[in-house]
Amino acid sequence: MYLQRRNRILRKNHAIRDLVRETILTPDDFIVPLFIDEGQNIKTEIPSMPGYYRNSLDVTVEEVKLLWNMGLKSVLLFIKCSDHLKDNTGKEAWNPDGLMQRSIKAIKDAVPEMYVMTDIALDPYSSYGHDGIVKNGQIINDETVEALVQMSISHAAAGADMVAPSDMMDGRIGAIRKGLEETGYTQTGIMSYSAKYASCFYGPFRDALDSAPGFGDKKTYQMDYANRLEAVRETIMDVQEGADIVMVKPALSYLDIIREVKNAVDVPVSAYNISGEYAMIKAAAKNGWINEDKAILEVLTSIKRAGADMIATYFAKDAVKLLG
Ligand code: PBG
Repeated sequence: MYLQRRNRILRKNHAIRDLVRETILTPDDFIVPLFIDEGQNIKTEIPSMPGYYRNSLDVTVEEVKLLWNMGLKSVLLFIKCSDHLKDNTGKEAWNPDGLMQRSIKAIKDAVPEMYVMTDIALDPYSSYGHDGIVKNGQIINDETVEALVQMSISHAAAGADMVAPSDMMDGRIGAIRKGLEETGYTQTGIMSYSAKYASCFYGPFRDALDSAPGFGDKKTYQMDYANRLEAVRETIMDVQEGADIVMVKPALSYLDIIREVKNAVDVPVSAYNISGEYAMIKAAAKNGWINEDKAILEVLTSIKRAGADMIATYFAKDAVKLLG
């Protein structure tokens, strides 16, 4: 057989495969989500996220030191708000002594160089478990945006490097940018969850924070997973409003969207390898149906190959060890 071109030449052995590889994962790519709880010396495994924990702040600080020593340099903070502090205004979200604000300070005190990002959305603080203020069964956009601005300013005041609005209200990026400018937080970044879809894969996360919606679903603010152009439109608007980084979420069923967004904007693109994506790999591996280590690297590489410049993932520590 005479072939002018044999593609297997570039796959012949490890050395040549390493030379021609297009996508290389590194610890620099990862953002580590952390779930923080009140209390002391508490480490609670999340049932639907085996091997992932919600930790009290003292335990979290030790974890952050460990992450830094492993070469992981950014964290994304989520807190579990006590039930008695939840209401329909979300005001605990900007309590200067709230768990989030205390956490930001403690982490920055312990590891000043750790880049601290914080989730901005009302759901953990909402008695309705929604990302916004509820009136007559509706999630009210503009009042919610005012609350998100206060929340963002209070995180900046506590020392957050970047706020990450995950709520999907209209106009919140511009409003938060204006709020940060007016209060002098000109070095606080915004990573916008720009294309965030209404996904069943958030289930385990809502277990972790006890933040499932009390009524209805999130489809009036999170996007319809059938839509592609809408993701591009949302993302371009967020860039125009002042987002420093944009995000596609979830990642795995949305690799096409990551590529689409990457081609459409000139700011860095992140992707969130979310809780349900973690849970699926864990469950299959536990059953002996897939090789967990190989699945982790394949999935994370595919997200980067799709166009993500960075990935928020519960597998960050595992990946660093595997890449080691
Ligand atoms: C809150 C928020 C959610 C996630 C990140 N921020 C859940 C939701 O929108 O219901 C999901 C993260 C994950 O599933 O890993 N607005």
